[in-house]
Amino acid sequence: MCGIVGAVSTRNIVPILVQGLQRLEYRGYDSCGLAVQAAGNGLRRIRGIARVADLAQQCEQEGLQGTTGIAHTRWATHGAPAVANAHPHFSFGPNAGAERRARVTLVHNGIIENHEALHAELAAKGYRFDSQTDTEVIVHLIDSLYQGDLFRAVQAATARLRGSYSIAVLHRDEPGRLVAARQGSPLVLGLGYDGKERFVASDAMALAGVTDQFIYLEEGDVADVQLGKHWIADRSGRTVERATRTVHATAAAAELGPYRHYMQKEIFEQPRAVADTLDGVEALTPALFEPAGTNAPAGAKAEAVFKRIRQVLILACGTSYYAGCVAKYWLEGIAHIPCQVEIASEYRYRDSVPDPDTLVVTISQSGETADTLAALRHAQQLGMRHTLTVCNVATSVMVRECEFAFLTRAGIEIGVASTKAFTTQLVGLFMLTLTLARLRGHLSAEQEAAHLKALRHVPTALQSVLALEPQLINWAEQFAAKEDALFLGRGLHYPIAQEGALKLKEISYIHAEAYAAGELKHGPLALVTSEMPVVTVAPKDALLEKLKSNMQEVRARGGVLYALADADTQIESGDGLHVIRMPEHYGLLSPILHVVPLQLLAYHTAIARGTDVDKPRNLAKSVTVE
Ligand code: M6R
Repeated sequence: MCGIVGAVSTRNIVPILVQGLQRLEYRGYDSCGLAVQAAGNGLRRIRGIARVADLAQQCEQEGLQGTTGIAHTRWATHGAPAVANAHPHFSFGPNAGAERRARVTLVHNGIIENHEALHAELAAKGYRFDSQTDTEVIVHLIDSLYQGDLFRAVQAATARLRGSYSIAVLHRDEPGRLVAARQGSPLVLGLGYDGKERFVASDAMALAGVTDQFIYLEEGDVADVQLGKHWIADRSGRTVERATRTVHATAAAAELGPYRHYMQKEIFEQPRAVADTLDGVEALTPALFEPAGTNAPAGAKAEAVFKRIRQVLILACGTSYYAGCVAKYWLEGIAHIPCQVEIASEYRYRDSVPDPDTLVVTISQSGETADTLAALRHAQQLGMRHTLTVCNVATSVMVRECEFAFLTRAGIEIGVASTKAFTTQLVGLFMLTLTLARLRGHLSAEQEAAHLKALRHVPTALQSVLALEPQLINWAEQFAAKEDALFLGRGLHYPIAQEGALKLKEISYIHAEAYAAGELKHGPLALVTSEMPVVTVAPKDALLEKLKSNMQEVRARGGVLYALADADTQIESGDGLHVIRMPEHYGLLSPILHVVPLQLLAYHTAIARGTDVDKPRNLAKSVTVE
């Protein structure tokens, strides 16, 4: 979603801002812009609805240079994607005449919930609004409160904002000074290698190459950023010290290499991602779920909690939610612990019955999904203190706010369609299941060793599944001409069918629905015609014979089946039945393998339809607003 970069230096910072925006492009945006303090020339900005590369070209053509600046990629929420709505926004002061000279400029991530009331108040004071955004109220509010000190004006303004924001602000009369603030939306402060330069960004990734020293601002913080110095005040206005962390957000990780798209690269990285996630795991101990250095002896706290809890509540969105749905089968089937899985955006607003002896598990690739964070905080407010996150970003708010964490090691995921994050989440959730099962007396040492051995085989198994790609390209050519598709699965593989349908719809724009195969005859069977491809996930498990009956129901109505069948299932290609044979059968770990052909099917169908695979329309990588 939206991205922020800012810099204070002695050199021209336009290239740093542009490069930072380019590193944030993967998050999705529909307009972009930057503003600088131009020596002797006040505040200057360039905005556009084209790509960051075009913005860079425009900066060069116009000779835009400056030593202090802010930049932004916008994903529209309030107001259409248009130049007037792109950030940075300007305030020219109240009742500004034709000779308007910008006094304040600002970039913003988040949503201001009380913008209508503030708009009315500021309009009455003579401020003219040039955009349809909620953001513009902030820049005018800061201007209206400014009395010669930008830091104080930002403190006073943020005290009046409701909603979520991370902002970076410049004032015409204070060259070399940038003020930043955050509430509900992430912001980091970067300390330059020369000890003098200072940067801000909504994601440390944006500053790869310019620094590896970061301070993560906390909720309510306001930071005063100047050359060679900075200070931070908390919500109450007290000056606070925040720890500096070394984060190697390497630029190399974001390179495409030999691949055509990030999604393709990330699908093929899955053997490595799973191997990294398993690296160093000799046994299943509660210490795996405690971030390093939190207590001694490692794992003691998690062990006590894991033994005490009576149920698990999983909160997540999108693909991460489907990982949670798979985990429910594992947790109840192997660890015999009741498990509820809730869509975060629903859970946060519904009345529920809290049990303090619940382990609340959030699942999130980014660790910054607004709905999942809000659901976590809601559960905490209801008195459920035991929280664990399965997350791919060690420095994320989610990891910071949970008691325990399992860090997946997928590496940065850039494609909007989540792939390697999903399979590594499943690995983490399986390890959590086994750890709970062992501690609670439902798993012998021999069983644990056998499961671990199977887990270690997953990277190799993934390699053989990836080798099925040519067959999936063949299927994709047939899918590309369709407008609807059905996905069927049973048991553990019902969420895999759901994930397959989500992948297909989000990147190929084909309408896809998933059903538990037993539900077919209760309604969706009415949709089946020879024009409706029906993808069936058919592992060799206890439900195979039931699934075969469901497949017959489809064939009997002229439906065309595309089955991903394990070895030994006796499902053979024939009239109206296309089969891709999975190289082995994988028992309880089968969802991790069966999802991969569905990712490849979606990817190649999207390619055949010519869509923008890595940046599908209307979607953003990290959904940091509600
Ligand atoms: O970062 P998160 O895992 O919390 O994101 C949750 C969803 O927004 C995400 O999985 C989304 O559904 C993906 N685009 C699916 O491919």
